[in-house]
Amino acid sequence: MSDLNIAILGFGTVGKGVHHSLKSHQSRLEKVLGKSVRVVAILVKNLEKHEQSREDGVLLTTNYEEIINLHDLDVIVDAIIGCEPGNSYLQKALEKGIHVVTANKEMFAHHGEELLALAQKKGVTVGFEATVAGGVPVIQTIKQLLQVNRIQKVEAILNGTSNFILSSMRKDGHSFEATLQAAQENGYAEADPTNDIEGYDAFYKGVVLSQLIFGEKPNEQSTIRKGIREITADYVECADELGLRFRHIVTLFKGNDGVQCRVEPVLISMEHPFYQVDGVQNAVSIKTDLVGTVQLQGPGAGMYPTASAILEDIIQISRPVSTEPAYLEYQGDASSSSKWVFFSNNRKLELPYDIKVLARLSDKAVVVETEEVERIILEHPLLTFFELIGDYRHTTEKVIV
Ligand code: NDP
Ligand code: HSE
Repeated sequence: MSDLNIAILGFGTVGKGVHHSLKSHQSRLEKVLGKSVRVVAILVKNLEKHEQSREDGVLLTTNYEEIINLHDLDVIVDAIIGCEPGNSYLQKALEKGIHVVTANKEMFAHHGEELLALAQKKGVTVGFEATVAGGVPVIQTIKQLLQVNRIQKVEAILNGTSNFILSSMRKDGHSFEATLQAAQENGYAEADPTNDIEGYDAFYKGVVLSQLIFGEKPNEQSTIRKGIREITADYVECADELGLRFRHIVTLFKGNDGVQCRVEPVLISMEHPFYQVDGVQNAVSIKTDLVGTVQLQGPGAGMYPTASAILEDIIQISRPVSTEPAYLEYQGDASSSSKWVFFSNNRKLELPYDIKVLARLSDKAVVVETEEVERIILEHPLLTFFELIGDYRHTTEKVIV
């Protein structure tokens, strides 16, 4: 019985998590795969940093050529950062008939299509479960659903760092900066957290889902990509008093103009299933034609949740599920809601008299129902506004209806 030989590219949060988990789950994997799994090589950028991790029989190197030229290499796990050199490394691996498993969503959002086509040509697989929603098995679930269902719409919390920051600001009253630092210490945030807090990371995950479900990338012209940076402690406090919570949401559906992708912070009411999704948790709601709406929730980032997704992909190498995109055009409005929350930013809140006000929090914030949000925004450029998702019922006495 031959071993399954694995090389890991990158030995940070994810790479180390995979290495530890392959060891801790060795006997389980052996049972499922019918062979032992061995890490034979690790690629890093800075060798000195990793000298203490050196192990007998495991090549530790900064030179990818040494890895790609190893005999009997079966799988390359990509846990490095950015489009390059990850894309070139994986292309080379596939050319040589080596399976690849990647956690690198930025790279996969840009080059996933080419890599999957090359893998098919070479008769090998590309696992990308870890690129979306960390440890939540959303890719396998969608592949499974697509065997018979057509997908209409996906709504999801896909950036663990943003959800962790928004939850900690609300629950612990910590500042944005302090909670971002905690997210970095926990290994949730990227080394450069700009992608997390500016919405790029969630957008890349949206692109990966779009290609899987709809067979194409989102329409660039209509894409909205906003992060959570503008959300202040004041807004979080006001929202809480209104019985609402901020969530950073990715919405995907296909309409007349191709795939629409919106990545933005919204306010969620108590009735919405994402209301209780706190901390580093991700959640994905998939609306389909046959089974109805399927929801998944779990840890969206971190060492072991991500390792779990990668190990699942390693197992799938021996029994891949192939799928074709399958979707139904979404017939609803681009905007799913007509409810909005306006924050006054310490200015007098004067809204047009014909707007239906659902609730008001002193002169700080107002919840309205309107189909004319664009007009209000144009007329009141100094207001900050967020969409409200879910039914709204005010919950505290501070709120005036
Ligand atoms: P880290 O910053 O913790 O680790 C990155 C690792 O990659 C380091 O070991 C670094 O080497 C190595 N590396 C970076 N560039 C190169 C290069 N050019 N050549 C060789 N090695 C390189 O990142 P994470 O482990 O957090 O993330 C890794 C990937 O997984 C990223 O693409 C990320 O987006 C993705 N991901 C992360 C998740 C998480 O929860 N952290 C979850 C899901 C996906 P050195 O140590 O020598 O500097
Ligand atoms: N930085 C990412 C997040 C890691 O916070 O969601 C998981 O992809």
